[in-house]
Amino acid sequence: MKAIQVTNYGGPEAASVQSVDTPIKNKGDVLVSVIASSVNPVDIKHMTPGTVQEIDQFPMVLGWDIAGIVIEADKDSAFQAGDRVLALHPQGSWQQVVPVQENQLLKLPEDIDFIYGASIPLGTVTALQALRKLKIKQGETLLVTGALGSVGGYAIELAKQAKIPLAGLVRNKEQKKMCEDLFDVTMYVSDETIPAFTTVFDTAGILGRTEILQPQGRLITVSDDKVSLNVEKQALWTEHHFVRTNQEDLQTIVALFSKGKLHSRIEAVYSMNEIQEALKLASQSGNNGKIIIVF
Ligand SMILES: NC(=O)c1ccc[n+]([C@@H]2O[C@H](COP(=O)([O-])OP(=O)(O)OC[C@H]3O[C@@H](n4cnc5c(N)ncnc54)[C@H](OP(=O)(O)O)[C@@H]3O)[C@@H](O)[C@H]2O)c1
Repeated sequence: MKAIQVTNYGGPEAASVQSVDTPIKNKGDVLVSVIASSVNPVDIKHMTPGTVQEIDQFPMVLGWDIAGIVIEADKDSAFQAGDRVLALHPQGSWQQVVPVQENQLLKLPEDIDFIYGASIPLGTVTALQALRKLKIKQGETLLVTGALGSVGGYAIELAKQAKIPLAGLVRNKEQKKMCEDLFDVTMYVSDETIPAFTTVFDTAGILGRTEILQPQGRLITVSDDKVSLNVEKQALWTEHHFVRTNQEDLQTIVALFSKGKLHSRIEAVYSMNEIQEALKLASQSGNNGKIIIVF
């Protein structure tokens, strides 16, 4: 079978398609034929030395999202060959066949196609879990930074449904217009004057601005950047959230997609042989949606 392997630290040129042995299924695993996956910022970070996620072993297969079809499962499994499935699988999704722990898998509803499915797991589950940790109460307000991004966009949609008074923060006027059209939510550009919110969900690594957080406010970030000392001093608490694979959370998310209450945006779809182009695009600023790889 084919896998996208990263053979060194570096840019897109460090990733290429290689022939490798098809993995063997262990008891408890479900063998999945990957139809589509996506490129997430974490994949780029894995390829970059000096990041929290730097790889220490090459060759490495990246990729956290899976939409695919079950090839083989245990007799007593809830899954069987032919099932359409979805998984948040940290990590190693960028290959044609992956053994996935059963508790990472979910059946993919018929109304969600594989490409759209592959856009869902990492961004949505991260948004859901981090938002939940903020425990926003009635009367509080929320600012989501990086609102046009994957995690930021899902956080906006989830918070809107929970009727939380919220606004988003984006990089420039063009993104502001796009986000206002998409979400019908107040948007601020980074260099504007921004009011103070009782809670901040940061996805953009904006962690040094005391004026956006009310005194004794709460801030959660999914970036790897450091919260500044001044923001730490002013806040009741700040936290770096790291996503956890959770079948129930993914189930909640998929149900929202099926009801039309959550949406993905797809920026581009590439074949696995075009991985370098996909990584090049993912490394750039200004994308409006997920970058999908089809296997
Ligand atoms: N801890 C975890 O468990 C976890 C899970 C998932 C993701 N993450 C991390 O969360 C971050 C966001 O992930 P994602 O998938 O949502 O990425 P994404 O789709 O690339 O979105 C990031 C968004 O933030 C915007 N942005 C970046 N810097 C900005 C700034 N200074 N001002 C305004 N907007 C800014 C980007 O705009 P431009 O396109 O203009 O740059 C982009 O719209 C990444 O660092 C990722 O690694 C962490």
